[in-house]
Parts: sequence; C-alpha cells; structure tokens
Amino acid sequence: MSSLTRRDLLRSGLALSASSLVASRAHALLARYAAGPDSSPALPPRERLLFDFGWKFFQGHGSDPLRDLGFGMGEGDFAKSGDFGFATEKFDDSKWRPLNLPHDWAVELPFVRDEEQNSHGYKPLGRRYPETSVGWYRRTFDIPKSDEGRRVWVEFDGAFRSALVFLNGYFIGRNDNGYAPFSFDVTDFLRYGEKNYLVVRMDASFGDGWFYEGAGIYRHVWLTKADTLHLGRWDSVVRTAVKGNTAELNLTTMVKNDGLQPDSCRVYWKILDPAGKTVASTEGSGARAVPPGASNLFAVITGVEKPALWSPETPNLYTAIVTVESDGRVRDAERITFGIRDIKWDADKGFFLNGKSVKIKGTCNHHDHAGVGAALPDRLQAYRVAVLKEMGGNAVRTSHNMPTPEWVEACDRMGMMMMCETRLMSASAEGMAQLEAMVKRYRNSPSIIIWSMGNEEWIMMFQQQGLRVIDDMIAKTHELDPTRMCTAAVNTAFQTHFPEHLDVMGFNYNLKEHDPWHKAHPKTPCVGSETASTVSTRGIYSTDKLRNWVSAYDLNHTDWSQLAEEWWKFYAAREWLAGGFAWTGFDYRGEPTPYGWPSINSQFGIVDMCGFPKDNFYYYKAWWGSEPVLHLLPHWDWDQRNGELISVWVHSNLDSVELFLNGKSQGLQKVEPLTHLEWSVKYEPGVLEARGTKDGKVVLTEKRETTGDPVAIRLTTDRTEISADGEDVAILKVEVLDKEGRAIPRAANKISFRVTGEGSLIGVGNGDPNCQESDKEPERSLFNGLAQVIVQSTRTPGTITVEAYCKPYPRPVLPAVKVSITTKNIELRPSVG
Ligand code: GAL
Repeated sequence: MSSLTRRDLLRSGLALSASSLVASRAHALLARYAAGPDSSPALPPRERLLFDFGWKFFQGHGSDPLRDLGFGMGEGDFAKSGDFGFATEKFDDSKWRPLNLPHDWAVELPFVRDEEQNSHGYKPLGRRYPETSVGWYRRTFDIPKSDEGRRVWVEFDGAFRSALVFLNGYFIGRNDNGYAPFSFDVTDFLRYGEKNYLVVRMDASFGDGWFYEGAGIYRHVWLTKADTLHLGRWDSVVRTAVKGNTAELNLTTMVKNDGLQPDSCRVYWKILDPAGKTVASTEGSGARAVPPGASNLFAVITGVEKPALWSPETPNLYTAIVTVESDGRVRDAERITFGIRDIKWDADKGFFLNGKSVKIKGTCNHHDHAGVGAALPDRLQAYRVAVLKEMGGNAVRTSHNMPTPEWVEACDRMGMMMMCETRLMSASAEGMAQLEAMVKRYRNSPSIIIWSMGNEEWIMMFQQQGLRVIDDMIAKTHELDPTRMCTAAVNTAFQTHFPEHLDVMGFNYNLKEHDPWHKAHPKTPCVGSETASTVSTRGIYSTDKLRNWVSAYDLNHTDWSQLAEEWWKFYAAREWLAGGFAWTGFDYRGEPTPYGWPSINSQFGIVDMCGFPKDNFYYYKAWWGSEPVLHLLPHWDWDQRNGELISVWVHSNLDSVELFLNGKSQGLQKVEPLTHLEWSVKYEPGVLEARGTKDGKVVLTEKRETTGDPVAIRLTTDRTEISADGEDVAILKVEVLDKEGRAIPRAANKISFRVTGEGSLIGVGNGDPNCQESDKEPERSLFNGLAQVIVQSTRTPGTITVEAYCKPYPRPVLPAVKVSITTKNIELRPSVG
C-alpha cells in the first residue's frame, strides 16, 4: 500500500479507512526535513559552534541579593571592570544543576491560582514572584591559544528575558526583549589558552506579551569565530527575480574589517541548485579596500536558467556560498539557503505565487509545545509544521513575535509560507532594532511572504504617533528588503487612517468591516491576519462549564470571532481576500479562553498542545487540502445514553455520505461545499459507519465503535531511529486498547514511563487544557484516550527503551509495553567542548 497515493486508490475505486494514510504523509514530510537542520551555515575558516551543552543552572532571586549571588548587594557591582566574581574561576558552581539548552524553567514551575497570571499560563513569574523569576546560567569553556587574533562572538537566538551577560569577571552586555536574537563580540574579554567563565542572568519579572512566554535561554546559543576581515552578520543577501525561464540573482554582502590594519579583498559567489550542483559562479565587484573599523559593500548580479521554483508543494532550496579572499587566502565564507519564487499581492485577486493565484490557508501560532514549554528541540518545529501541512495549511503567522530560526527553517524546507511578525510595534531604538534583526536575519527565507509590523496596537493605531511609527517601520523594512510587502494586524482601528499606511491590510476578525473597507480602499490588497478563535476541547462532545470543557463540534467561538465554517466560507467567497490565518493552529499555554482556572492553556487550537487533531482539523483538511476526506464524530462510547439522540457530524469533501448504525442506514446526504453534514441518531452500542461516495463509488469509509474495558497500553513512536546528537527527539503516542485492540476514546488512565539507555524523557503532555500534572514527571493521565511523551537522545549511539506501565493499586493493572528507538551515529554539528 505504501507506494500507492490516495489518489491512485481513489482511481482504482478501492475504499480505505480515512485515518489510515494520515500518518504516512506526515512522515514523508518529516523525512524531507530529516536531511538535517541547517542552522550552522559556517564554512572554514569561520567556525560556528553550538553552545548548548554542559551548562549549570541556579534559580536566583528577584529582590533578595543574598539569594541572588550577592548581585546588587552594595550597589557597587558595576563600579569596576572585571569585578564579577561569579564569572571567574574562583566561583564554585558544583551545587548548580547541570542542564543543556534550550531550557525553559517556567514549564518546570508549579501552577499558581493567581488571575494576574492567567494570560501567561498561571506560572509564578513576575515581580510578585521574585523567588522563581530569576535564573542564572553558567558555562566553563576552553579557548585555544590559536584563537588569538580572530574575532569571537557569543550569539543568542533569543532568550526570555532581560539578559545580563558576564565573561571572565567582565560585564559584556544586556538584552531586554525575549524574542530577538542578540550577540556580543567577546574577543577582548577571552582568556586564550585557558578556561573561560560565561555567566548569563535571565530575569523574567517583566513580560513582552499576553501569552505564555517561558523563561530562560529557550533558544540556541552559538560561539562564532572568524577572521578580523569577515562577512557582516546577516549582511549576505540573495534577491531573486523570476524573468521568464531565468531567475536573476542579485547578490550583495558586506565585508567588515575589525583589524587594526587596512585590508583589501575580493568576494566570490557560487550558487548550488537543490541537488547540490553548481549552477553559477561569479565574483562580486572586484578587489576593494576595507579600511580598519570600516565595511565595504560588494554587489553583483548573476542568473540561473530554468530555476526550480519554491512553493509549498515544491520547497526547492538553493544554496549560495560566499567567500572572501585576499592574496589568494580565504578569509571568511558563509552558506546561505534561499529559494527562487515570485510573489505578488493584488487588491482585486489576492495573493499570487509563481504567477498562480494561491489562497492563504493559514494558522497563527505561538511557540510553546506540550512537555517542553518554549524550549523546543529543532525536530519539534518540523513536527509542528508537518501537523499543519497534514491539515492542508499552507501558511503560518508567527504571532506575535520574531520566530525561532528552526521554525522558519522547517517552513523553508517543508513548504509552508509565513507571515513573519515582530513583537514590538515601535519606532523606538529598541523597536527598530528588533525589526531590523528580524528582517536581516530572515530575508533570504523563501517561506516568508510578508512582514508584519505588529498586532492590534489599539492605542497607537488611533493616535498620530501610530502613523509616524508605522511609516518609519515600513520604510526601514523596505530599505532592508525591497522584495516584500508589509502589513499589520488591525483590530478596532478600521475607520482610522492607520490601515491606509500599510502595503497590505491585515484584518483581525470583524467580518462586517471587510467589505466596506475594501470598497473604500479598492487599491489595497487585503489578508485576514487573524480569524476564527473557534474554541473546542479535543474529544469532548458536550460543553460543560463546570469542567471547563467546550464541545468539539464546530459550535463555539468567542463573541469577537467565528466558527471555522463561518470564517472560511466568508473568505473563500471573496477573491480579493488573499486568505487568512486562523487563531490558532496549536493550542498554547496561557489565555485559557473561554474559561479561567483551572484551565492553563487556550482552547483555540485546531490541534491540541501535543498536536493531536481536534475534529475541526478535518473540516480544514477537507476544504484546504487536496485529498479526499471523510471524518466522523463523535466517538461511539455513550454507555449511559441508550436511546438518546446523539448528534453525528461528518466532515467530508466527497460527493455524498451515507451513515449506518449497526448496518442500518441512517440516511444518505449530499455534501454541500465548505459545509459539514449532520444526523441525529438514536444511540445504541455497536458500530457507527460513514460511507463516502465519489462519482458513484464508495471511496472512503470511517467507523466509530463502542469499545470495551482497557486491557493493554499501546505506545507508538513517530520514528524508530533518531540521531545520537543530544538534540533529536522521538515523539511517542500513548493509548489504551480494549480486548479487540481498539483505542478507547475516553480513556483517562494514568500511565507511567521509564526511559533507559541512550536517551531521556524531556516532557509529557495530553492536550487537556485543564490538566495541571507536571510536564516533566515520567507519568501522565491520558486525556480522551491520548498522551504524548517526548524522548531525547544522548550523544552516544545506542538504544533508548521507553516503557509504559500502570502503577498498581488503585489503578487497573495493564501489562507494561516497551518501545525501542535506535540512536544512530551522525556527524555532530560542531559544538563548544
Ligand atoms: C486576538 C489577539 C490574539 C489572541 C486572540 C484570542 O485579538 O490578537 O493574540 O489574544 O485575540 O482570541
């Protein structure tokens, strides 16, 4: 069966279960990603070393210096350079907790019933929780004598929040916001040929947003070393323009001289196609002088014949290698991944990719995941993209902050378009620095089709300041990237002048405002920057306000939003609307709408915190995707409800569907485009079956069966082989089965886990918005039949064994099951030893 596509099966008239192919396509997508993350674009003589392993952690204190390494004790800390003892060899960190990055200490904290912390997921963070809001990270490392004369930087991809960085007793610098990357040139502060002591104090007392943000160094850290004559950070840019059968490549870079002597150099470019074959080579601008302390720009135009274009269906990626040479010696080199594609926003006809109209089928997403909080291993980013692609999604919005590099990279590689959004809408130095970092960092990424200047700034959007700020932000963005348009997510300010300053209007909700606004501004392209906010709890079919459950039929939304079926019908009917981004793809911690405590995460997701689909997933899959879909809800385990009427829904894009209960037809219904089907069925235990017909033939069937008592645990891993790199993860699904081997949809058994061998458990989850069990303990209750376990490899090849079992009394004893995952030897990315 594996070599047949669903389309082949359909053509052959073979019926198959609708869920049977779901996993295989996601795996194929992930396999494409498995070529390996490409976050280390360094080429010799440049070194870019992953700085994630071997850190020590200490929970400090936000108000008591005695519990915060004495920091701030006598107000003299910054009086003399080099005086920070905790960043020197004399400091003893042996009692600190060893850990690897990325790390989020917020997810490890207990929940607190404090309504002020509601939007951040009820975690004890903030100025009122000084004992859990400050964290110290410390790392001892060697710098060889041979590095003397090079430039060395410590680079953070993003850390939450208010970082203070110290090295060898010296204060190096600070970074306030929690999302933008920051780096420091530490060349002068290193001890060459000796041990070095790096200390980072993170303070999560303030927040940047109104959603769960995590706490700590939750993205990668790098140690980068280069020649004094080197390429500027994020200064190498490939701009592409498709012209008939050729792509013109506009190549620019900046060479910087951080040495004390004048230097001169040439820059060479080599372009590799997606198969790695060189398709163009060129020299940029000839030899040029670079005075000490200065930079020089190198630019050249080249071309590629018959380019393999990038699109969600064909995510072809090219590579540009840029090399700096002087006197025949390579001084610096870098590898840039880019795509060739043509984008256009049209006020009448929406969005075009490579000359074809493409409706944006998008989701907004925050950045946390079950078990790991904000500290996602790279693989999980790819897993999340695969889930959204499986649903038929073709775009994501990085609400409401600059994304993690590996999220962008997964979108580039797997084919997912992106609206890339900065956190702070401001023309302050800080706001502009965040914007500049975002645009420079990601402007080579083909997935990004538009920049967002911010979200729902409902104070600023009504004021004169807002107009000046947005003009400055857009001008800056266009200067750094003339190839993309800018938008902002507008709410309430529809009648102000603010939206008139945008290249593309971004509507948040408010369907009533769309048509009048378009009529009044017929020349502005429009997109739904945020829509839906439909709420549902996975596996729940009747709303229960006492238990904070919302039924998963497409029946519930907040008073500012719409059902899935409502907003998508509206957008699908308007050609001028480029499409939209549903709030949200994944559930996220914080904003526990529509309830409060004890809910600790949102219920907006089309999939839950683990990525397990709620039923609306199949509504979108039916109308966004290209494959036949037949999805039947609810489950058929209604023991107390014999004889009661149960509402049965089907999401399908076939011609018609007939429903059967225990072999007896409940009626055939014709599918109306973009609309679900509904029956009212008198409950009796047994088999509920939907048969979907296309062109007169039954092509898909789907069953819900009444299940029995649990007799077994089923543990399924997404992969049986992962990389032994200390980073890769296997994502396991946990279910319980009845004696017929059927997964029990309402099971709530608490399952324990034992992980042995070359790996460890890094998080558990179950998608229950009300579950306050620990994300880190090796046990989890199933929620409506499902739980997730995330297991990470060590750097030693071998086997990870994951065992799932039920602790005896008072729980029913189910036999333990085991899954083995091989961790294979791979070439490790260079890292700090
Ligand atoms: C929007 C906001 C989002 C989220 C959402 C919930 O107005 O932009 O961040 O709060 O509401 O419906």
